[in-house]
Amino acid sequence: MIARSLWLYAFVLFGVARAGLVDDIVTALTQATSCGGCKALLVPLKGLAYLGDGPFVSTFTAVCKTLKLTDDDVCEGAIAQHAPIIAHNIREISIFGDMGSKLCDGVFGLCQPPAVNKYKVSFPKAAPSKPKVFTSTGKPPFQVSHFSDVHVDRQYAPGSDGVCNKPICCRKYADKKGPVSQPAGPFGHFNCDTPVPLANSMLSAIQTRAPNNKFSIFTGDVVEAAVWSLNRKEVIEDLQSFNGQMAAHLKTPVYPAIGNHEAAPANNFPRSTTSESSAQWVFDVQGSGWAQWIGQKAADQAVHTSGSYSVIAAGTNLRIISINTVYWYKQNYWLYDDDNAPSDPNGIIAFTVRELQAAEDAGQRAWIVGHMPPGRQDTLNDQSNYFDQVIQRYKNTIAAQFYGHDHGDQFAIAYSDYSKRSAATAVSVAHIAPALTPRSGNPAFKVYDVDPDTYEVMDVKVYMSQVQNPNFQKNPSWDLYYSARSVYGPLVPGLKASDPLGPAFWHGVTQGFERNETAFQMWNTFQSRGAKVHACDAECKKITICNLRALRAEDNCEDSKPGLQVRRRALQEQLDNPTAPVRDECEGGGLGHIFAKAALRLSSDNFSNDLLEELKERLKEVVPEAA
Ligand SMILES: *[C@@H]1O[C@H](CO)[C@@H](O)[C@H](O)[C@H]1NC(C)=O
Ligand SMILES: *[C@@H]1O[C@H](CO)[C@@H](O)[C@H](O)[C@H]1NC(C)=O
Repeated sequence: MIARSLWLYAFVLFGVARAGLVDDIVTALTQATSCGGCKALLVPLKGLAYLGDGPFVSTFTAVCKTLKLTDDDVCEGAIAQHAPIIAHNIREISIFGDMGSKLCDGVFGLCQPPAVNKYKVSFPKAAPSKPKVFTSTGKPPFQVSHFSDVHVDRQYAPGSDGVCNKPICCRKYADKKGPVSQPAGPFGHFNCDTPVPLANSMLSAIQTRAPNNKFSIFTGDVVEAAVWSLNRKEVIEDLQSFNGQMAAHLKTPVYPAIGNHEAAPANNFPRSTTSESSAQWVFDVQGSGWAQWIGQKAADQAVHTSGSYSVIAAGTNLRIISINTVYWYKQNYWLYDDDNAPSDPNGIIAFTVRELQAAEDAGQRAWIVGHMPPGRQDTLNDQSNYFDQVIQRYKNTIAAQFYGHDHGDQFAIAYSDYSKRSAATAVSVAHIAPALTPRSGNPAFKVYDVDPDTYEVMDVKVYMSQVQNPNFQKNPSWDLYYSARSVYGPLVPGLKASDPLGPAFWHGVTQGFERNETAFQMWNTFQSRGAKVHACDAECKKITICNLRALRAEDNCEDSKPGLQVRRRALQEQLDNPTAPVRDECEGGGLGHIFAKAALRLSSDNFSNDLLEELKERLKEVVPEAA
């Protein structure tokens, strides 16, 4: 509070002149190339934030439009939705503290995350000295299908242009000029989110490709990536419509999770301790939409635990624990509004512990299901570390974990000792589903063979539909792309037919990648199902394998210096070629991109003084006199 009144004092009493503030903001933007530069930028931005959300929004809109960082409507929409949250944060926190670093990391990608804020998760009981042994009796496996990141675009317009300057195309945009260069087909396009018929096609393919499907897992992201134009009403309709599609096509239950695109503004789920806003409406809508599969008791949990719930999967003794991981997501800007932010926002970690303890007490196995895998560069290190403590404590109970969000066909391994990552220390594996949206490659889903005694995964089969197949626009076919046991098994010497594809297996696969470049490149191609493949050289391979071996964010390799450079390189590619696909596909061109692009553009040598002067003139029109 003292800091806050000092700021007000400075800005109101002395009346920082408009021209001075504008100059300070533009100068600071041109120098925002480092963590220190970012914090220096927060100083004039704090002054701007105190002038109100209006001037804050207008300033960034003017920056975005003057520098032509993206189409004007995207500038206006994304900034109007997200910038007031940033302004609120900057007013509330001390910018030179840890929360300032987290904000500069999460919003601008310019600071390293601060060291983990130590916190010991409390457990109701110590780990049993003789953990229960789960033994397979060799019964035939049952099937579970896993799909994710459907991003259904209900404004998808067949015949509209598949080429545009916005994060997604194939819509009837008001600012469209000239003839259509690539008419969108009825079932989808690589530059666009999923049309309704493609989602129906995949859901019915699950029935034919996995006839013994006991249940499905859906790891979230229902809503399309037009984040600049979304509102609550549209998101609610999207959620309800997709629940209806799943109900119409799937003959067995589906266990869903909350994705970051389920909020409006996208990504932004306020904590329960934030009084300014609430995402309770998302949990209310999904709680009632999901009750048909998860039952009323779990639906009530979802309503009261921010979308998280626990349920015994139909026809099994397996406990599914679906958790909302969006409170650990760096692009959830509501997480940066308190210097003393809670260690376990909305009690998601405590909920997971409670449910895992119940599973252990009942002698059950559990699966963790969530949207964002809690170990990547976009996860907050603190909460990832706390969640890892939970994995370590209940490693015997957790048979596997399931996530989406990356859009890539991926996996990630947790270790009991991150300084000695080996098959022997590998304790848990996360299966990460490919996306349905063609924006990230060929649409795909996974089918697991599951041992009915141990609930361990025996095989992962990926089914995929090729967008460029001549029949795709008439009737997409969903064909077996590969079986993980067949293609990766040979990389793991000594693998027996009865061995599950558990954490030790997947560690062996990463060692196979190190030895065998062909196998690694095959996996790299599989990530996006053979379309829109990102080349991966030796340095990229090193970082990638390190990331596969990190379900705890502080141990991935993105946060190290090269990682930051990789991110800047990816942004630079976009500046050079604005119609290139957005690489940070899970975020989909939101405010973070625009902020980072502004800093990158203005800090590069490639801008003219004329542009700088024009920017200052435009900003002076929108920043009011302070006093
Ligand atoms: C490397 O991997 C490829 C693809 O899985 C496989 O065909 C090949 O036999 C492997 N090479 C060696 C030397 O193991
Ligand atoms: C500098 O930016 C302009 C406009 O964005 C672009 O056309 C030009 O190719 C860039 N030049 C260099 C050297 O990057």
